[in-house]
Amino acid sequence: MTTPYEIQTFAVIGAGNMGSGIAQKIATEGYPVTLIDLTEEQVQRGRGIIQTMLQEGVQRKIFRPEQAEAILSRIHATSDWNELANVDCVIEAVFEDLGVKKSVFKRLGKITKPECILGTNTSSFYVKDVAAATKNPERVVGLHFFFHPAKNRLVEVIGHEKVSPDAIQAVWSAQESIGKTPITSADAPGFVVNRYFVPWLNEAVRLLDEGVADIATIDWAAKKAFDIGMGPFELMNVTGVPIAMHAANTLGRELHSFYAPADGLVRQVEDVKENWNLSGTPNEENYDAVSRRLYGVTFYVAGQLVEEGVSTVEDVEIGARVGLRWAKGPFQLLNETGITEGIQMAKETMALYGINLPQKLLGAPGAGIPITLVSTMARGDLKGVWINRPDAMNALNPEVTKQWKDAFIQAKNKNPKGIVLGGSGKAFIAGADIKFFVDHLRANTYPEIESFTKDGQDLFRSLSEGSTPVVARAHGLALGGGAEFALACDWIVASPKASFGFPETGIGIYPGLGGTQRLPRRIGLPLAKYLVYTGQILSAKKALAINLIDAVALFSELDHACSTWAAKGSAPEQMMPEQCPSEEWEVIWNFFANYSVDEILSGSAETGDDPRLQKSVKMMGHKSLHALQMAERLFDEGADLSLKEALALELRDLKTIFAHPDALEGLTSLLEGRRPSFQTQVTA
Ligand SMILES: NC(=O)c1ccc[n+]([C@@H]2O[C@H](COP(=O)([O-])OP(=O)(O)OC[C@H]3O[C@@H](n4cnc5c(N)ncnc54)[C@H](O)[C@@H]3O)[C@@H](O)[C@H]2O)c1
Repeated sequence: MTTPYEIQTFAVIGAGNMGSGIAQKIATEGYPVTLIDLTEEQVQRGRGIIQTMLQEGVQRKIFRPEQAEAILSRIHATSDWNELANVDCVIEAVFEDLGVKKSVFKRLGKITKPECILGTNTSSFYVKDVAAATKNPERVVGLHFFFHPAKNRLVEVIGHEKVSPDAIQAVWSAQESIGKTPITSADAPGFVVNRYFVPWLNEAVRLLDEGVADIATIDWAAKKAFDIGMGPFELMNVTGVPIAMHAANTLGRELHSFYAPADGLVRQVEDVKENWNLSGTPNEENYDAVSRRLYGVTFYVAGQLVEEGVSTVEDVEIGARVGLRWAKGPFQLLNETGITEGIQMAKETMALYGINLPQKLLGAPGAGIPITLVSTMARGDLKGVWINRPDAMNALNPEVTKQWKDAFIQAKNKNPKGIVLGGSGKAFIAGADIKFFVDHLRANTYPEIESFTKDGQDLFRSLSEGSTPVVARAHGLALGGGAEFALACDWIVASPKASFGFPETGIGIYPGLGGTQRLPRRIGLPLAKYLVYTGQILSAKKALAINLIDAVALFSELDHACSTWAAKGSAPEQMMPEQCPSEEWEVIWNFFANYSVDEILSGSAETGDDPRLQKSVKMMGHKSLHALQMAERLFDEGADLSLKEALALELRDLKTIFAHPDALEGLTSLLEGRRPSFQTQVTA
């Protein structure tokens, strides 16, 4: 089944704060983008905003000067709307005025091709109302970005009654392709995040109005209670006090007077016309009075959102963590407060506004509202299982593994033609949760590490058992345990932005979830050794060249490509390749086929003048020698065994690798963001 919508090129209408940032992000991710405004002057102003941002990025060493140049060169700024004729996706970010937006969409409906997706970044109007301005509402989608859109990854994807599922699917993949983390929202006031964030700001002003506490105390208490860097008043000063008032006005008009702006907020915008004065010393005695009210509104609105079907528990959480950068989402905060206590806070607070709590809260299980990290999903004729930890790069830990098992069984029970495994956000799976290992090594609770690894191995083995083909949809980073996860699937289909690598020996351990056994069976022993010893990360293109993966597909075709591979059925058993895949890889193949770790690191292996070999030796010099030697033993011993027997070796040696001081040093160094200093390292 193909889609009429394939998004490779973008345009943004409105070169203001949001539009320029959205265009900057698209260009940063490597796509051409046309930036349009009403006049040449406004267009150039928008381009200037981007240029300044990029220069700041260069100063802060986020980009090299030539990268900033390349990004800017992908942005075509113009006031000529005819240039939109062949664009695949247009994102509107003009003034928040329904009349203006409607006239823009009417014009877009005429100029753009019928397969062009039209997205609106409206914050306060219904998407269906904007869509009604065109003759093709089925291709109009809400795309609500967050300030600053070049930095904040969250985007809310909003459908409406007339939207085509193909358009939603295409726009979703397109957002992934530009490094965004999409969540779904119904076409409802405030969508997901602003629906609870704006009342949270508003309640802070009410606490001030009522004399419960002063600004310094409220900001201090909010930071402490929500584990965040800025309190509500400081945040309003940064993002604009009038914006908070306008947002509250919209919610109040559409929903209930509880959401309407506090008197003090209106006064601040209309009379004082200044930012809030943040000075003062917090009065810590008022912590409870403030935090209970702020928790109360947050818990209520989050519960209400889910009750109304605007969002899911998981998306509410992702919205808070990714969009607002809260350490914890509303439901996690509620669970940690304790359901009885948290509901009491919500009850007390909402009683002030004559509002009863939704059943989602009143009927919540005593143990807490379940927050699924892994869930089943359905797209077209394929069923999928998805990890939803975008802010943790979908890292694997015992809870994820457990939920995976359950979701996978659920998906399989529906007898699908195939199961696609994916992850939300920028990464596919960035590896195993390093903190989990460090915590257990420090606490001397090694059995937890062993049982996690064993469960992981069992889960991975179950993927290829049975007759349902399993496809890894590797759209982004697949490192360590993530790459091993993909290897355990029948087929691996990657986006051009995916990358694959096995960095374990650089943090004092070896890949223990099949990396030393499935990898050589896919790409041959010498190349498997090369990847594990050096930690070299491969682009999707290179991974395909050595048969590490089965296909590379553009984001717009990724789902379809996964279906096509699933239709091939289960993969045949992998026989360890004996031949180098191509001439280009021969030098590396021969080197790692002929020399042992000790020979390479002692300098007795012949690198000649080959820069790739010299680089490989240098990279190995920074690894833990102990980890390299153990990986080598596993490779060599496992090569002649059945896969099942070979995988058992990884478990057999697990205690030895984790008991070595290089493991704790390597894992800790990664958490602390520094280079490790191994006891067994050739290059100090
Ligand atoms: N600022 C935020 O934090 C934020 C967050 C999410 C969504 N939004 C939404 O994004 C949209 C844009 O907001 P902004 O803050 O960037 O506004 P802005 O005022 O900075 O920019 C708006 C731009 O649109 C241009 N414009 C106006 N009418 C136009 C037309 N008919 N055709 C082409 N261009 C036109 C203006 O010249 C201006 O450059 C609004 O819908 C807003 O609600 C804003």
